[in-house]
Amino acid sequence: MATKRTVGIAMNGITGRMGLNQHLIRSIVEMRNRGGLPAGDGTVIWPEPLLVGRNAAKVEAIAHAHGIERWTTDVDAAIADPGCEIFFDSATTGARAGLIEKAIAAGKHVYCEKPLASTYAQALRLAELARAAGVKNGIVHDKLYLPGFLKLKRLIESGFFGRILSLRGEFGYWVFEGDWGQPAQRPSWNYRAAEGGGIMIDMFCHWRYVLENLLGPVRSVSCVGATHIPTRIDENGDAYPGTADDAAYGMFEIDGGIIAQINSSWCTRVYRDELVQFQIDGTLGSAIVGLRDCKVQHRVNTPRPVWNPDIPNTIDFYGGWTEVPDNEVFENGFYAQWAQFLKHVVLDEPHQFDFVSGAQGVQLAELGLQAWRERRWIDVPPVAIRNGLSLV
Ligand SMILES: NC(=O)c1ccc[n+]([C@@H]2O[C@H](COP(=O)([O-])OP(=O)(O)OC[C@H]3O[C@@H](n4cnc5c(N)ncnc54)[C@H](O)[C@@H]3O)[C@@H](O)[C@H]2O)c1
Repeated sequence: MATKRTVGIAMNGITGRMGLNQHLIRSIVEMRNRGGLPAGDGTVIWPEPLLVGRNAAKVEAIAHAHGIERWTTDVDAAIADPGCEIFFDSATTGARAGLIEKAIAAGKHVYCEKPLASTYAQALRLAELARAAGVKNGIVHDKLYLPGFLKLKRLIESGFFGRILSLRGEFGYWVFEGDWGQPAQRPSWNYRAAEGGGIMIDMFCHWRYVLENLLGPVRSVSCVGATHIPTRIDENGDAYPGTADDAAYGMFEIDGGIIAQINSSWCTRVYRDELVQFQIDGTLGSAIVGLRDCKVQHRVNTPRPVWNPDIPNTIDFYGGWTEVPDNEVFENGFYAQWAQFLKHVVLDEPHQFDFVSGAQGVQLAELGLQAWRERRWIDVPPVAIRNGLSLV
């Protein structure tokens, strides 16, 4: 019979979009519904959450809805709770660094949403503190688990592309301003710099681990940002000035001479198959990658257009691409990451996406903002972690 190993997890931010849907319902509750996580050594890991939020009625209702006994509005008490060995945070970015630091000081293992912190200095400090305290630490890196990106990984590993030349990415959609009958579909803090908002800090964290894990180390960045929409309407119906970037037009140089261009925008109307779409071109073939789908065109299927604006186009460019089959059942990415992190905590299995990786994401966002301010390319220095930093 399997041995049950209960792991107490203080979960902060579970009334939010990511916290409730992805982390609580689709990961922790799902794991409990499946009877726990088999650890492979006869042990079953049983996550036992303590839900934390500011609004008692909301948190209590969520706890009851999902059969969870423990909940509180006192985040400090949750961090100190001896019945929790992990502190997880998916609440607002601006408050994250302070909470994680307290959790590390309390000797808890720490796992959180990206970005790790609002600034690189804070993120680096958390990585150093976690290392000094010897606690396990992990950061969300969900895009790598998207079926489209897993298929891209398959293509890269198969040598499909030959030499990869470039990546062009479009991420984004129109986020309503809230001023004419369509409410905004993202929280207002996203557009306020002082509250950790901005699309660069939001998305470059993702682009860093996506580029690094699929193509190679990011060596240099150049970026132009914009605050295209100067005024938005918040959750209370009040107008507020947008102080953070709501679009970022970035370029990245990657090892091996690969050039990546990624537009990230909350001010664009979608004319593509998915909300994120990358085109990767290589000497032998190209791919179009979205959240779920991936299409390819090999060199032998490549049409041979000749530029002549005087005659109508005769080539069906969309027709020359072939769908890459699923060939497997894809696990929800957030679930897969929780499973990895819990095994890291319980079994000491290695975990690549730690706070150093999280700090790298924030570093790229900060360098993007700097490149925009200074209107130039900036080389990405290695993340230097000091060992032995003592807790204050
Ligand atoms: N991995 C991803 O793809 C992804 C996607 C979206 C957001 N995120 C990240 O997840 C985090 C949450 O984003 P979200 O979109 O779920 O936001 P959200 O606004 O829906 O949720 C934020 C949560 O934080 C709480 N909160 C807000 N202000 C607070 C404060 N001052 N003190 C304490 N708690 C506060 C809210 O009650 C809510 O529970 C952010 O760090 C964001 O960057 C990640």
